[in-house]
Amino acid sequence: MSKIYQFEGLQFAVIGDPINHSLSPVMHNAAFQALGMNARYIAVHVLKEDLAAFTESAKKQLAGFNITVPHKNNILPFLSDIAEHAALAESVNTVTVKDGSLIGTSTDGYGFEQAVLETGGPALQGADLCFLGCGGVVPALAFHAAFAGVRSIRIINRTVEKAQVLCKKLQQRFPDLPCAYGDSSKTAELLDGVTLIAQCTSLGLKETDPAPIDPALLPRNVFLFDTIYKKTKLLSYAEEHHIAHANGASMLLHQGAKSFEIWTGRKPPLDVMRNALAQK
Ligand SMILES: NC(=O)c1ccc[n+]([C@@H]2O[C@H](COP(=O)([O-])OP(=O)(O)OC[C@H]3O[C@@H](n4cnc5c(N)ncnc54)[C@H](OP(=O)(O)O)[C@@H]3O)[C@@H](O)[C@H]2O)c1
Repeated sequence: MSKIYQFEGLQFAVIGDPINHSLSPVMHNAAFQALGMNARYIAVHVLKEDLAAFTESAKKQLAGFNITVPHKNNILPFLSDIAEHAALAESVNTVTVKDGSLIGTSTDGYGFEQAVLETGGPALQGADLCFLGCGGVVPALAFHAAFAGVRSIRIINRTVEKAQVLCKKLQQRFPDLPCAYGDSSKTAELLDGVTLIAQCTSLGLKETDPAPIDPALLPRNVFLFDTIYKKTKLLSYAEEHHIAHANGASMLLHQGAKSFEIWTGRKPPLDVMRNALAQK
């Protein structure tokens, strides 16, 4: 028998497995309260095998929901429409329920772009962008960047095949976009001329983690954006050597703010959402 989900009186949710750690409810509920909206946002633990039951309930009882790890790709078969950049990346983090249908998009790339701008980094348009890592989040950021007019993309990843597959997909849609890849032995070559580095490996989550590349190879005039919230070894090196840098704290805020705007059509109260996150 499939699981039964009941969301009476609840309108928005975030799903994932695990989900307890999610800061999204704090941020969205603060925004609803600040705007005097009668809406609520909850975290729901959903296993992969329960996605069908969850989405059936969501169609009837929710106005929208976010998706986090590991379901950003798993959710795709349950959607009736997907924004092009999200379909290409095969990654959806925001679903709107419209007339009983589920419409998917991704706000991760937007969150990344706004966070880079807000912390003093360059616009994506015209940037020479290098990703460190090629896990779940990178395709969403890379396709967003390609649509935003990035000049070139490079990807450094331990598993080179993943970077190769993503470069191929990017160039199928954007044939004129230069895309190069390799493992960390190609770091110097791949970082030549880059203006923006997006650190997207999970290295740095633990204090004992090494840096994903030799920090001494960081170009001096690059902007280093580390998607991890903490001060990683790479960020510490950048600070010591006066290389412009920022951690990933505001990326979560901006992807959430965009979801809020998509669902409600209202300007998200950014300061309220930022403060709510800062208090956690
Ligand atoms: N700030 C935000 O709002 C935000 C949002 C999303 C994600 N993130 C961060 O982005 C990072 C990646 O997330 P994800 O979902 O893409 O994770 P993921 O799918 O698990 O990918 C992990 C990436 O790290 C690499 N990696 C892991 N261990 C490694 C090691 N020992 N040596 C070299 N490379 C290693 C993996 O390389 P292989 O491909 O070779 O395994 C892969 O590229 C995480 O740190 C996460 O916290 C931040």
